[in-house]
Amino acid sequence: MTENGKKRVLSGIQPSGSLTIGNYLGALRQWVAVQDDYDSFFCVVDLHAITVPQDPETLRQKTREVAALYLAVGIDPERATIFIQSHVPAHSELAWLLTCLAPLGWLNRMTQFKDKSAKMKQDSIGAGLLNYPTLMAADILLYQAEAVPVGDDQRQHLEFTRDLAQRFNHLYGETFTIPEAMIPPAGARVMGLDEPTKKMSKSEDSEYHAVYLLDPPARIRKKIMRAVTDSGREICFSDDPEKAGVNNLLTIYQAINGGTREEVETAFAAARGYGDLKKAVAESVVGLLEPLQERYNEIMAEEGYLDDILAHGAARAAAIANATLAEVRDRMGLLAPRSHS
Ligand code: TYM
Repeated sequence: MTENGKKRVLSGIQPSGSLTIGNYLGALRQWVAVQDDYDSFFCVVDLHAITVPQDPETLRQKTREVAALYLAVGIDPERATIFIQSHVPAHSELAWLLTCLAPLGWLNRMTQFKDKSAKMKQDSIGAGLLNYPTLMAADILLYQAEAVPVGDDQRQHLEFTRDLAQRFNHLYGETFTIPEAMIPPAGARVMGLDEPTKKMSKSEDSEYHAVYLLDPPARIRKKIMRAVTDSGREICFSDDPEKAGVNNLLTIYQAINGGTREEVETAFAAARGYGDLKKAVAESVVGLLEPLQERYNEIMAEEGYLDDILAHGAARAAAIANATLAEVRDRMGLLAPRSHS
């Protein structure tokens, strides 16, 4: 609990590509919804992005783009703190302290590490990729966050964070709040349009895989009309991998328009085929993204606006993060530095 009596949330997104509707429906939308009720901290996790190779200029540009999108989706910098992870050095420092406590066995079991490293040559896998969850734990624990709004794919990293926090508390005394994952009821796992058995990802190269938040309407329509479905006609939610494409389109539709599964299926009872479903999904996505893109353009056009928010956000975040870090250093027995006079 914070000074103003509100519980705290923290979450972040990597600037490792262009944000997708998966990032919006799984994460960003929840952030907007919780900012009134929680003391909210949202960061752009650039230190996580560099766990795989990034082009420096693109990384800088994407970092600003992601921060501007936080504002464009409706996060209010008066109510929530928006900042860049690397602007608050306490994240790196706590990550190191926790690295010394994180069992290798736990890190080796992380499915995201196994999936990502399997696609790389052994010699090019940086130790940072293995340590990714420890840095994420540091992000969350520095703010004593009670809840972490994320998509379904982050469950395991949240479990790791909880386990590591408990391990620290056990060894050094009660220090960290144990956080809970906050996963949305619909849209927690949006699948690739071209391969609906695979999670939609911002770092996938193929052109028809993802709808990006900044895609122009014509491209959004084209991508959705080309989405992979099956040879049947039945428009219903289903766990059958054969029907994964239709299930994904219905899920996107439901996440945007609301309603129960039955209500969504009823809305398509009179549809003549998957073409009608795709058209309805495309219009829902365009309707969602057009106003967001307008706000994004306004934010980017206003000289200095975004950078002021980020500077203010980093200062606010650092005040809290540094207090937690000082306590952790003390508990671990690190000698406190004396200021030089
Ligand atoms: P990232 O950048 O991979 O994903 C950012 C957020 O978007 C969600 N997400 C999805 N949700 C639904 N469907 C999808 N296809 C989809 N793809 C991504 C993710 O679940 C996530 O919520 N490790 C985090 C970044 C992070 C973090 C943190 C999060 C670093 N530190 C501290 C919370 C708290 C990640 O996966 O980022």
